[in-house]
Amino acid sequence: MAQAQLRVPDLAACAAPYRILKVRRLTGALGAEIEGVDLSQHIPADVRAELDRAVLDFAVLVFRNQTLSPAALKRLGEQFGEIEEEPFIPKLEGHEGVYLLQGSGGARLSTQNLHWHVDHSYRAVPSYGTFLYAVNVPEAGGDTMFACMTKAYEALSPTMQKIADGLVVIHDVLQYGLQAGHMSLARPEFIGRLQGMRSVFPQIEHPLVCTHPDTGKKFLYINPAWASGIKGMSPQESQALLAFLNTHATQQPKLQCRVRWENGTLVFWDNRCVQHSPIADYTEQRIMHRVAIAGTWRPT
Ligand SMILES: [Fe+2]
Repeated sequence: MAQAQLRVPDLAACAAPYRILKVRRLTGALGAEIEGVDLSQHIPADVRAELDRAVLDFAVLVFRNQTLSPAALKRLGEQFGEIEEEPFIPKLEGHEGVYLLQGSGGARLSTQNLHWHVDHSYRAVPSYGTFLYAVNVPEAGGDTMFACMTKAYEALSPTMQKIADGLVVIHDVLQYGLQAGHMSLARPEFIGRLQGMRSVFPQIEHPLVCTHPDTGKKFLYINPAWASGIKGMSPQESQALLAFLNTHATQQPKLQCRVRWENGTLVFWDNRCVQHSPIADYTEQRIMHRVAIAGTWRPT
């Protein structure tokens, strides 16, 4: 899990097999289940080197049967960078930096259907990545989808790649409450909160196509939650192109993996080049703990 200030794996070594970790890919696009590490303990340097490499190889890492108290989850996060504050999720009381995702139990399906997004692209320096830990999850339902934005870029035609390469996207924190997919959040008090955040985070521009700082690979940097338009285009043109790109990036199974949670499952994803989407197909209680790592990379 290499941040700019941390070690970057030797990419020349990436073709070599993993020596310590057992790695099983989830799909052809991204994701891997990783065995051979107890994340409640300090991670030895040789294991850490393989984890750093696995992030670049697979972008979504799934660890089963981990026992992580909130304090242990925070300690794990601190090994990878600065813990990031999360403005949209309640804090877990008594555990600074750890956040509580709690699906609504009861007869109705969960309302936590936030659809596809990357976290916090409305900031100049978005999150590096997230650890999400399943504390108490339904027997079935509440899976999380992930989509590879590197593969999404590669799947565009050369002509569309050339067009995309030169474009700049405007990201706006206010957009989150206005998206059709987020109508459950479009309550006046929520919009008011977003307006307050906008005074801290004004609209920001990021390239539509970015280059991963560690792999050097190009990827689509779009976000159905925060992207409000394309610089220099009319609203109609923006809307049409963003709609195409969002559909292209998030609606193709060949670009995705799906993680089924069990109690004790921990997932880490590279928030720079991966979109995620929770599935609200459950009625039972679903409790997750979340620790996000602040980024050090400005999208370029
Ligand atoms: Fe998210």
